[in-house]
Amino acid sequence: MSILDLGFLLIVFSSLIPSSSSQFCSAPSSFPSNPTFSACNDLPTLSSSLHWTFDAENATLFFAFTAPPAGEAGWVSWAINPTGVGMLGSQTLIAYRQDDGKMGVQTFNITDYAIKPSPIDFATADLAADFVGGVMRIYGKMFLTKGTTVVNQVWQVGAAVSNRIPVKHEFTPANMNSKGKLDLIRGQSTVTLDSTTRNRNIHGILNAVSWGILLPIGAIFARYLKIFKSADPAWFYVHVGCQTIGYGVGVAGWGTGLKLGSKSKGIQYTDHRYIGITLFALGTLQGRGCHGPPMI
Ligand code: HEM
Ligand SMILES: *[C@@H]1O[C@H](CO)[C@@H](O)[C@H](O)[C@H]1NC(C)=O
Ligand SMILES: *[C@@H]1O[C@H](CO)[C@@H](O)[C@H](O)[C@H]1NC(C)=O
Repeated sequence: MSILDLGFLLIVFSSLIPSSSSQFCSAPSSFPSNPTFSACNDLPTLSSSLHWTFDAENATLFFAFTAPPAGEAGWVSWAINPTGVGMLGSQTLIAYRQDDGKMGVQTFNITDYAIKPSPIDFATADLAADFVGGVMRIYGKMFLTKGTTVVNQVWQVGAAVSNRIPVKHEFTPANMNSKGKLDLIRGQSTVTLDSTTRNRNIHGILNAVSWGILLPIGAIFARYLKIFKSADPAWFYVHVGCQTIGYGVGVAGWGTGLKLGSKSKGIQYTDHRYIGITLFALGTLQGRGCHGPPMI
């Protein structure tokens, strides 16, 4: 296997490993006004965490949200969505540097993608933010509706603020899946992947199995086993088997990729598309030039 093959395998495999979540819950934390919280969750995307204490008697939520912003002059955000599961409808807190140069929190009742500071449905108290050691924190109290025990939470990070308004975040899978249910009593949070992300995972796995495992193994058999005369012609059948199945799985991976591409209206992954189409064309040509069984 050449260095190139190795590099390619590494890239394919690393793309399969989910983005790591943070460990803020296990790290000792010091919060200015509320020194300890009774629960903490490391959230599954964007390296963020939520510490909280919930008093069910009066539905008071003491919380601290921690996340690294996407840029030094960026923002972090945490929200509860009482009417839906995603961004729209979120009763949102966003932390960023205010006019006076200090970190502060603004509330946003997000009803469309043009967000602006506005009152939110929940009363809040003692809202504050800081930016220490590369992470921004939002903390304070939120007075929820009596009887609430499970909420839809939404969180996000961005790289810039313009005219006192946070500028839009990225649209990577991590940014699209930063939402889920939070059980305030049992301390559990769950995230259901959206269908685009599920399809994207299937596309990734099919392509990794095909281009990353089956086709290289087939090639290795052809290149190295044929020098052993005794392995003839077994190596050839292993080679053909791997290439045929690998190519089949590759076609499926390519198909799911094309379908994903046609469904993604707003965002175009142009480079990725060209790489995919080129790889597929090369793979097809390689197979067509079929080098035939060994001339013994
Ligand atoms: C700063 C201005 C913002 C803009 C222009 C913006 C824009 C967008 C757009 C266009 C989408 C849909 C992308 C798609 O479906 O392909 C989206 C999704 C999302 N946004 Fe924002 N966003 C902003 C701020 C925020 C904030 C502050 C939060 C945190 C509460 C947030 C959380 C999310 C989440 C979790 C998603 C994915 C789930 C969903 O589609 O609702 N966004 N955003
Ligand atoms: C709710 O209960 C907590 C803890 O018992 C208390 O600290 C807080 O002041 C109460 N809040 C309200 C609004 O009564
Ligand atoms: C937030 O926006 C929704 C939809 O426009 C509206 O019904 C609600 O009253 C708003 N909340 C506040 C606190 O203004």
